[in-house]
Formats: sequence, structure tokens, C-alpha cells
Amino acid sequence: MKILVTGGAGYIGSHTCVRLLEEGYEAVIVDDLSNSSIVVLDRIEQITGKRPGFYPVNICCKKELDEVFEVEKPEAVIHFAGFKAVGESVQKPMEYYSNNISGTLTLTECMKKHGVFSLIFSSSATVYGEPDRMPLGEDCPKGVCTNPYGWTKWMIEQILTDIAAADERWKVTLLRYFNPIGAHESGLIGEDPKGIPNNLLPYIAQVAVGRRECLGVFGNDYDTPDGTCIRDYIHVCDLARGHVMALDHMKDQNGTEIFNLGSGRGYSVLEVFHAFENACGKKLPMEFRPRRAGDIPVSYCDPEKARKILGFSTEFDIEKMCADSWNWQKKNPYGYGENAPCEA
Ligand code: NAD
Ligand code: WQD
Repeated sequence: MKILVTGGAGYIGSHTCVRLLEEGYEAVIVDDLSNSSIVVLDRIEQITGKRPGFYPVNICCKKELDEVFEVEKPEAVIHFAGFKAVGESVQKPMEYYSNNISGTLTLTECMKKHGVFSLIFSSSATVYGEPDRMPLGEDCPKGVCTNPYGWTKWMIEQILTDIAAADERWKVTLLRYFNPIGAHESGLIGEDPKGIPNNLLPYIAQVAVGRRECLGVFGNDYDTPDGTCIRDYIHVCDLARGHVMALDHMKDQNGTEIFNLGSGRGYSVLEVFHAFENACGKKLPMEFRPRRAGDIPVSYCDPEKARKILGFSTEFDIEKMCADSWNWQKKNPYGYGENAPCEA
């Protein structure tokens, strides 16, 4: 079965392509490389022995995307393509609404034209806003987002739900990721943020490899056991497996389904930091800084629905997440940049 993977050269998309190829699916990537590297294709081939199809196309460009559907005739789509930096979305809301929402509309128009009605979408725990209960079940009402990036996920979920409600040929799966971290254990693919990392794990990893001086921990006065925020981290390879399980489940699906993908277990910023120190075998510089605007103190999911319906549960713990993240970072100190080719 051939799957079109938008944004498949990115962090989560590349790991999902590996899993798809390992499980006998064909993968065709559409990615404009706005936040990824062409080197990813070689790395996926090194891991799996298979090279995914690749089109350097912006999904907002209907004519080019249409041609991809015409030539490749995929049976389903996994849709990762989009901008994802929370802070940048506040500075550039038009770019975020345009790329994420127009891109999704263009994609669904092309899908409909070519008779492809199975779609998995990368959503986010961010759609829950600031929740009043924990853990977060899929039935928790969507909340008020604190940034344009979050609103694009919120709105796209609504758009896709409406599309599926209007035409029963559609099968839409909304996967709400919690905090994906880690890397493939080969160290050949991983997270490679451009510029200063916004997220915790890549920041710690860059401190460990000597690219940044010191981790700033945003807030140590939250109402949590050690005063730092708690999140539900999920290994990116577990997340990738979740996509393939969601794809398998689509055969029996009607309309829209929503699943949280997380472990159901929260870790504080300090717990993650110390787990990373253990993984890299050295003490790392850290200092407390003021709270970051918009952060919620605690977020973790109820993973039961994905377990019951998809048979999905996470395999990898925080030690493995940090070990794999470190393995990737030390083998590729500058990510996919040409300064440091991977030795693996
Ligand atoms: P990423 O930036 O590594 O991957 C996204 C890919 O999409 C990149 O390769 C980029 O080049 C491509 N892209 C962006 N706009 C495009 C366009 N218009 N046409 C074609 N390609 C385009 O991000 P990621 O972390 O792998 O995230 C994948 C998806 O999961 C995103 O939609 C993101 O919002 C969502 N998500 C990510 C997280 C996370 O913490 N990483 C959490 C929840 C949801
Ligand atoms: C985790 C914790 C920070 C960096 C974001 C998006 C969300 C989703 C995942 C896409 C927080 C703290 C961080 C640092 C720190 N993305 N931290 N120092 O905020 O849970 O979620 O990424 O959908 O939409 O908002 O993840 O990794 O940024 O932060 O202390 O240098 O680490 O304050 O408590 P977050 P994160």
C-alpha cells in the first residue's frame, strides 16, 4: 500500500517513513525542505535499505501537488507538513495560518479529486489549551490556544472533522501528540532544529555537545513536586509506530477518530535534565530563569483510548529517550549540516 507523507523529511515524518518502509508500506514524501534536509533520504535508505519516493513540493502549490497524486496514486495520506515554532507563530501569524491551513485545504482538495479519502493528521496536545483536569482524555473539550500555531491545529482539526461529516467516504484520524523526543537508535535520523532550539530536549542536547553554554530552566516555582513543569514525553519511534497502527485501524473506521499519543506519565523539566545527564555521562550547566509565557504547569495524557482501539502503548522510557537523543546529537553535532557527517 502506498502512503503519501507530507512533511516526511522532517523530524517525526522521517521516523514514520522508516516505520512504514519496515512494515512493508511504500512511502512517497512531499516536502519543500523549508525545515528539513535532503540528506534525510539517504539516511532513511541506510536504515531500511529502501529509498522513499520524494517530491520537493510545497503543498500549497495545487498544480504541483496534483501532479504528485496523478503520478503516484497513493491510497492514504499522513499529513505532517506545516510550520511548528510557537514563538515564531506569534511574530508571523499570517505565514502560519497561510502555510498550515491553506496547505491542508489544498491537500484535501487534491485528495478528493484523486479519490483518496484516508487522512492522518498531526495534531497536538496544544489544542487542549489550559485544561482544568488531568490526565487529558480525548473527550476533554478543546481549549483556548495561546498562540497562532496552536490555533492552526485547532482549526485544522475542525476543518477535517467537518469535511468527514459532510462526505462519508472520508476517514480522518486526528493524532494529538504530547511531547515527542528521542531519535532512531541508529543515530542516523533525529531532531535538527534551525537556530536556537525552542524545545527542551534539543536545547539540552546542544548544551551537552557544546553548542550552547547553559540550559535555562523556565520557572522553578510551579505547584509541582520540584517546582518545574511536567510534560508527557514520547519517544519519536513509539510515535511513528502509533501512526502505522492508526493506518492499520483505518480499514475499520468511519468518519473522524481522535487519539492522544503519549505515555500517560509525566516528567518534570529537572527529571528530564538529570536523565539526560545520566545518558551523556556528565554534569551539564543549568540555571533557573523566569517562567516562559504561555507554559502550562502540568500536561499528560490518558492513553487508554489508543491502547483499547489501536492496541498502542509506548515501549520506551525516559532513559531510552535521552540515550537515543544523545546518540543522535553526538554523532551529528550539527544535525544534518555538512560540518559533521554522521559516522554511524
Ligand atoms: P518538522 O518541521 O521537522 O517537519 C515538518 C516538515 O514539513 C518539514 O520537513 C518541512 O520542511 C515540511 N513543510 C513545512 N511546510 C511545508 C509545505 N507547505 N509544503 C511541504 N512541506 C512543508 O516538524 P515535526 O516536529 O516533524 O512535526 C511534524 C508535524 O507534527 C507538524 O505538523 C507539527 O506541527 C506536528 N507536531 C509536532 C510536535 C513536536 O513537538 N515536534 C508536537 C505536536 C505536533
Ligand atoms: C517543555 C518544558 C518549558 C526549553 C511545545 C509546544 C507544543 C508542542 C510541543 C507542537 C516546558 C521547559 C523548555 C528550555 C525549559 N509542539 N523548557 N527550557 O512547551 O510542552 O510544547 O512543543 O505541537 O505545541 O508548545 O514543550 O519542549 O518547549 O517545553 O525549561 O530551554 O521545558 O518551559 O516546561 P512544550 P517544550
